[in-house]
Formats: sequence, structure tokens, C-alpha cells
Amino acid sequence: MIEIIVKNSKLITLPRIDDGIDGSISAAENFNHIPFAVKRVYYIYNLINQKAIRGKHAHKKLEQALFCINGACEIGLDDGTLHQEITLDTPNTGIYLGVELWHTMKNFSNNCILLVLASDVYKKDDYIRDYDEFKKYIDLRRRRRVRGGNGNQ
Ligand code: TYD
Repeated sequence: MIEIIVKNSKLITLPRIDDGIDGSISAAENFNHIPFAVKRVYYIYNLINQKAIRGKHAHKKLEQALFCINGACEIGLDDGTLHQEITLDTPNTGIYLGVELWHTMKNFSNNCILLVLASDVYKKDDYIRDYDEFKKYIDLRRRRRVRGGNGNQ
């Protein structure tokens, strides 16, 4: 069993209803299995280049849930202090990817389909695409929290 040690992340296990040779169903509901309301769904596929490394960014406000619904891939999670790599290869096991988490997606199998549920529509300004900028951003947020603010200023 995988254990998530980085901040703002956890494993999500969706129910799996098996119908034998007729297949299986897994379903995800807002605020039940998914800890936010889903506003956007996107999926990553066509991974001809298995050396592809995607992600390499963090989000300021966006929350996401990642499910590898076909094949396998590896998700790197970094909260600025702790780092870990998690293999996703089971369609009903996913990762909650909260705010302020630097993440990468790599080691894709060529049949990989990574399904992402997101808490908001696509907003370019919510991305932090530079790792040093990410470190500065989370340090600033931490300092503001220690001073008693909510870190939103
Ligand atoms: P990006 O989020 O950087 O992909 P990844 O994290 O998988 O590497 O997005 C890649 C491109 O796709 C970028 O030009 C923005 C576009 N895009 C959208 O237009 N809408 C979306 O919902 C997403 C996720 C990306």
C-alpha cells in the first residue's frame, strides 16, 4: 500500500464494482470520493514518447485528482520539503493533488491515459512554472501563516 508523505496530497480509492467478464465500473462523486467540486476534466494520452516528462509546475489555488485509467505512469510530488514518486497503475486508485505541490508525470506506458479532475477551469495565471519561484512562493505563504495571516494577501 502506498503512503503519501507530502503535504496537500492523499490517496483516493474509488469504489470498484466488478461484473466478472462484463467488466468493472468505478465512479467518483464531488465531496465524497473527490474532496472538491469538479469543474473541469482533462486527460493526457497519445504518449508516443515514453521519455516524456509532463507537469513540472505547481498551482496556487487549483485542486486536482489524478487517475491512470489505462496503463501506468509515475507521479512525482514535491511540497518544497518532502519529495516522493508514486506509481499509478490501477484505474480506481488516484492521487489528490492539492495546492502548492510541485508535480511531474513521467515513465508513461505507451497505452497510458491519465485522467485529471480539476476544481476550476483552465487559468494560466494559477500556474507556477519555475521551481525557484515555487520555493519562494511557499516560503512566503509559510511566513505569512506564522505571522497569523491567512496567507491570502
Ligand atoms: P499543461 O497544464 O502545462 O500540461 P502538463 O502539466 O500535462 O504538462 O498544459 C499543456 C498545454 O495545454 C498548455 O498549452 C495549456 C493547454 N491546456 C489547456 O488549454 N486546457 C487545460 O485544461 C489544460 C490542462 C492544458
